[in-house]
Amino acid sequence: MRIVKSLVLGAAIAALAAPAAQARTVKVGVVMTFSGVNAEYGDQIMRAMNLYLKVHPKALGNNKIEFIKRDSKNPGGAVAKTEVQELITRDKVDMLAGFVFSPNAIASAPLVTEAKVPMIVMNAGTAWITNLSPYIVRTSFSMWHAAYPMGTYAEKTLGCKTAAVGYTDYPPGKDSLEAFKKGFEEAGGKVIDAIPMGNPAQVPDFTPFLQRVKDEKPGCFYVFVPAGEHAAALVKTYGDLGLRAAGIKLIGPLDIIQDTKLQGMGKAAEGMVVMGHYAADYTNRANEAFVREWKKAYGKDSTPDFMAVAGWDGMAAIAHVVKTLDGKIDPDKAMKALEGWKFASPRGPIEIDPQTRDIIQNEHVEEVVEKGGRLHVKVLETIPQVKDPCKQLKIGKCAQ
Ligand code: PHB
Repeated sequence: MRIVKSLVLGAAIAALAAPAAQARTVKVGVVMTFSGVNAEYGDQIMRAMNLYLKVHPKALGNNKIEFIKRDSKNPGGAVAKTEVQELITRDKVDMLAGFVFSPNAIASAPLVTEAKVPMIVMNAGTAWITNLSPYIVRTSFSMWHAAYPMGTYAEKTLGCKTAAVGYTDYPPGKDSLEAFKKGFEEAGGKVIDAIPMGNPAQVPDFTPFLQRVKDEKPGCFYVFVPAGEHAAALVKTYGDLGLRAAGIKLIGPLDIIQDTKLQGMGKAAEGMVVMGHYAADYTNRANEAFVREWKKAYGKDSTPDFMAVAGWDGMAAIAHVVKTLDGKIDPDKAMKALEGWKFASPRGPIEIDPQTRDIIQNEHVEEVVEKGGRLHVKVLETIPQVKDPCKQLKIGKCAQ
């Protein structure tokens, strides 16, 4: 009896002496566009991040996350840079997340390198963003993921011998043009015109650009404009000016058929072919659960889209770091935990390439079809586990 008593007492003393697993709060600075014409981007990503934590209450272990949200306002880079500076020096954030527009991520890169703050890019698609800092990881896409294989597909399968390219005139637009042109011309096609179509801060009148394309009569018209209001206006003008009726195929990356805008695009969108990594229509189990949870949380008429999935996956990546390091964020250990991280995303299996810190993901050739009065995204072909071709081929700034 005495022995039992002392064992119990000993265990009690040991329990008192052992440090209880300490709950830590990890500060995450979230820099995104929450106002103006592109406000919905930030909202979609933030909704997905919050939803991930709600659906996975144990994802952080014993720890908590405090989001410090900042509105980067416009795509120019300067506002985002000031906010990142403040988040690092004044708020002392452990990690940064968000970054919808490429210039905002590009302007912030030197700051995260100097301060060693892991930065999870959840949209900005210019390929070489991940080359700018060893502390950047991307859970969205590179412009080359879609544009380069789309170039090959346009020539080989769609049978376009000529193409015109329209692009929003800033880094991801130029990147998308370069990638499409390379894929298309390597396959034997010819890009006969490349048309800069305004800037990302304002939706331009697309009429003069599209009239020019109509007059040139290319087989394909490849377009990158930012998703949302730009894409909706572009597709409308394409239909109104009769390019569809003239047999000029509208193709591009998935940005131009964003799920949140698709139903509003109407007849003009039917038959569009894009290369993409996500559509709410995907039927894998992870996506069906994601869409169900999304509608439960945000209403049955609401839908996630490719921005949301990058937020969901990015939040899963952050949670993985928090749990692995038990809330004590050492920047180099955080990067180690992210390199090679694998996840069953609603878009399909993903991985962070340990060499480039960019995402590896399936790309799909997708067609917009009408069924039962709704527009659907139909997967025609899948290219498995694509690594950013810009870095694979060591093109320009992707070589550094
Ligand atoms: C970007 O700025 O990198 C960007 C913005 C919107 C998109 C895609 C890329 O739809």
